[in-house]
Amino acid sequence: MTSHPSATPAAHADSRPEILSVARLWPPMMESLRGPFVVHDRLHLEDPVAFAAAAPRIRGIAASGESKIGPDLLAQLPALEIISVFGVGYDGVDVAAARERGIAVTHTPDVLNDEVADLAIGLVIALARHIPQADRYVREGRWSSSGPMPLARKVSGARLGIVGLGRIGLAIARRALAFDMQIAYTARNARTDVGYSYFASAAALAAAVDFLVVVTPGGAATRKLIDADVLHALGKDGYLVNVARGSVVDESALIDALRSGTIAGAALDVFEAEPDVPAALRELDNVVLTPHVGSATWQTRRAMRDLAFANLEAHFAGRPLLSPVP
Ligand code: 8YV
Repeated sequence: MTSHPSATPAAHADSRPEILSVARLWPPMMESLRGPFVVHDRLHLEDPVAFAAAAPRIRGIAASGESKIGPDLLAQLPALEIISVFGVGYDGVDVAAARERGIAVTHTPDVLNDEVADLAIGLVIALARHIPQADRYVREGRWSSSGPMPLARKVSGARLGIVGLGRIGLAIARRALAFDMQIAYTARNARTDVGYSYFASAAALAAAVDFLVVVTPGGAATRKLIDADVLHALGKDGYLVNVARGSVVDESALIDALRSGTIAGAALDVFEAEPDVPAALRELDNVVLTPHVGSATWQTRRAMRDLAFANLEAHFAGRPLLSPVP
């Protein structure tokens, strides 16, 4: 066989850095990446043989907030320099292993604070005021057949507990102040820059509030933090809202609590095994369910795309990263 440049696979001839996208990323994000980079879109899942051939040249990973990037994948990428997460959460990334190899990890903090906080408040109101149920009530003709709906619960002035008072938690608190809510929180440490009441544990906080909003990072440190005891403390008139990670809530304990009336209701944007949502949850009427849409608006996804992309661009241009993980 004669060797000829055209026999060389395009990726070899291309001088652009090669990156692996490990999740089905937002199409405009993919479009941005495809300019300056050779992108192997989920090649490790789609074509292991082609992936094995490309792996030694892969210098970057583009991931979503839910991507799992563990030791197995890292071991297959000897030239990896950077992991850019399109999301604020990076609990699926083995940051310690990456750091040991000098691999940079970046994420998209701040640009989605407003969006996730807006959704959290929206879920509190939807849950308390039965907005999805009310919509179904009208559509199904029950207003005319059965008369007015059962009464709901007032939001303004209620007690709000925030689990994790970070950037998004603070944005939720600011919004809740406009509803005259009394704000309390739990976090690893009490903050000195806010006057909200601090509780040392999620259970103690739950016992003191009407709405418990979970917005703490996922990962081993918070796995099943909201367990049967916390739900019991929240009580029969209490509501749970989770906009963090499914892993933070013990989902089967939650289903039991919702079924038995241990708590009044829950609004969930995140789940243990997304996109699978247990039928037991979908069948309950005292829950509001959304498909992990905390940051899902055009405006915010564009800002996340710009930041995730800018981190990769900066790295390969030898410039400082814009938002490395702490
Ligand atoms: C996104 C998220 O759903 O920021 C996060 O941590 O979970 C989300 O904003 C996700 O990263 C987009 O795929």
